[in-house]
Amino acid sequence: PIKIKNICCIGAGYVGGPTMAVIANQCPDIKVTIVDLNAQRIADWNDADLTRLPVFEPGLAEIIAATRNRNLFFSTDIEQAIAEADAIFISVNTPTKTYGSGKGMAADLKFIELCARQIAKVAKTDKIVVEKSTLPVRTAEALKDILEHTGNGCKFTILSNPEFLAEGTAVQDLLFPDRVLIGGEESLAGKNAIQALVDVYSKWVPEAKILTTNIWSSELSKLSANAFLAQRVSSINALSELCEETGADVQEVAKAIGMDSRIGSKFLKASVGFGGSCFKKDILNLVYIAKSLGLNEVADYWEQVIIFNNYQMKRFSEKIIKTLYNTVSGKKIAFLGWAFKKDTNDTRESAAIYVADYLLSEQATITVYDPKVSEKQIQYDLNYLESRPAVANIRGVSLGLDPYEACKEAHAIAVLTEWDEFVDYDWQRIYDNMMKPAFVFDGRGILDVKALSEIGFVCSVLGKSTMV
Ligand code: NAD
Ligand code: UDX
Repeated sequence: PIKIKNICCIGAGYVGGPTMAVIANQCPDIKVTIVDLNAQRIADWNDADLTRLPVFEPGLAEIIAATRNRNLFFSTDIEQAIAEADAIFISVNTPTKTYGSGKGMAADLKFIELCARQIAKVAKTDKIVVEKSTLPVRTAEALKDILEHTGNGCKFTILSNPEFLAEGTAVQDLLFPDRVLIGGEESLAGKNAIQALVDVYSKWVPEAKILTTNIWSSELSKLSANAFLAQRVSSINALSELCEETGADVQEVAKAIGMDSRIGSKFLKASVGFGGSCFKKDILNLVYIAKSLGLNEVADYWEQVIIFNNYQMKRFSEKIIKTLYNTVSGKKIAFLGWAFKKDTNDTRESAAIYVADYLLSEQATITVYDPKVSEKQIQYDLNYLESRPAVANIRGVSLGLDPYEACKEAHAIAVLTEWDEFVDYDWQRIYDNMMKPAFVFDGRGILDVKALSEIGFVCSVLGKSTMV
């Protein structure tokens, strides 16, 4: 039997940071070192001021405070951390390829391969190598190939242990996971490695929730779970348009269908479109895998989830323009929210970016208020699309210091993220300082539209039929 006493995690991002912090917190006898090529990120994780950690997650700062420099370390010395570890988690980014074959669809595995080569170069003792990143099915094969052909005789056992945490609830998801999935080889070495990792998680996760499978099932389950979740959002969003046209209310429909225990009530919130770093990337990856195996119908089926999501973001943007008398040119639109969901500072693939891009092309001026997102990030997100020169983005979009300033003299407010605080603003004060008619487009269905219309707002809620 193997006992894991020293863990190295490569990649100090949204997954590596919280995941390893929780392992260190729950397993005081294990030394955990998180390493990254990005020195600034490591410096931020080591910042004495816990409000400046690179990842904002409720409850995370407290765990970092309890574990950092006790048995949790953040470092740029990747080689030393690899050399010391019995288990190495690879938690680096696996973005969609932006070049060459599979461009725009396949996962870019160059960071993963770099990790494997570095491990092979440095390792002097046997290692368990854990795939924590989300990877195409059969990546373990490639990893093993690299490790075994460039290594110096050490034995590497590869496990797949995908992460199912959602941002905004990462700490809770890690402490009380629905399941922990560990895939490994059938061999004795494989079984021993699986058991060693089960022993780590079973310090706080009930054994019944720790699922062990073969390595390919584990890899494919991660892509499948994200595809299913995204499909639910696209399904309810497709119904939202039907609701708007027929007088049905999407929240009532969601409740009615969700009470069927076979369907379940979660993940049925209509929205302006799903965002986040995972859903689109992982479905594109699934589509690519299906296509490369010649499974075109399978590929088309899953691709539709993304096609519909793009449509939903465009539809929301067009609704704003149409309602504002078919032009937003020169008009100020206030955005409440830029993050892809509440309780996170992450903006990757946020619907807000695409809606802003659409409205900017129609010459609107946008002021954003988000409790956790900086102006620099907003400009970065817009420039990444390459729709217009950076100066035009700076001219078109600015950050309001507070929600009241952001909404001042706006023709319309668009709610893009479901932050709780938006509901409790002094909406009378906001109304008094807006252009009239004062329009509100609630892309998340969170506002009290009855109260707002009594103030005088003209409200449009996604998935509800009429202007209230
Ligand atoms: P991230 O971009 O936040 O972090 C990845 C980090 O890896 C970066 O800091 C980068 O500098 C570092 N890195 C890249 N190559 C490196 C190398 N060779 N050596 C050292 N460091 C290196 O990404 P993330 O959101 O944490 O996602 C990581 C993986 O986890 C992805 O495969 C993703 O699909 C998966 N995942 C993400 C989530 C999520 O909610 N974000 C949830 C589940 C799974
Ligand atoms: C997702 C998966 O949930 C998680 O298991 C996986 O590990 C990583 O990808 P994440 O992207 O962090 O997590 O957040 P999630 O809560 O899934 O939300 C994704 C997007 O869908 C957000 O933009 C969210 O606002 C949207 N969404 C979610 C809806 O529009 N409606 C819903 O009912 C649920």
